[in-house]
Amino acid sequence: MPSVSHLFFRAGIVFLMVGIGLGLAMSISQNHDVTGAHAHINLLGWVTSAVFGAYYALNPAKAQGLLPRLHFWLYTAGVTVMTASLYFLLKGTPGMEAPVAVGSLMVAAGVLIAAWVIFMPAAAQGVRLQAAE
Ligand code: HEM
Repeated sequence: MPSVSHLFFRAGIVFLMVGIGLGLAMSISQNHDVTGAHAHINLLGWVTSAVFGAYYALNPAKAQGLLPRLHFWLYTAGVTVMTASLYFLLKGTPGMEAPVAVGSLMVAAGVLIAAWVIFMPAAAQGVRLQAAE
């Protein structure tokens, strides 16, 4: 499996542990105030990261070069910033709107890189196709 797939799955499973921990905490306390953070950690952090990791595993030629690594780091940092600041926003901490916005834009930029990787032929990423196949 390409290393970028490993990175996406490792980050994803960490997000899933945090997301499930938050879900359990909400259930036990019967206080669902951070449902938005829980849902985004699980869906952006676990489900979407795992889909990206699986895509690169199925298309190893696309996993070569700088772009997939930029995709991983920008997307993962964005999900971390966005969901952590959303958690504190929902808890009533002042001044959290800006970090939520910055994290959200990083996530969106990561998704645009994913779209570029998916639509472009592997050769457009400077990959030696023969080596990857
Ligand atoms: C042990 C695991 C989990 C527990 C204990 C848990 C618990 C919860 C709780 C208490 C809520 C708030 C419900 C409400 O106020 O209406 C919630 C909402 C939600 N959870 Fe989880 N959850 C778990 C795992 C997951 C996973 C793995 C995902 C996605 C992959 C997920 C996605 C969502 C979504 C999207 C919502 C929002 C639903 C809505 O607002 O209609 N949860 N969860």
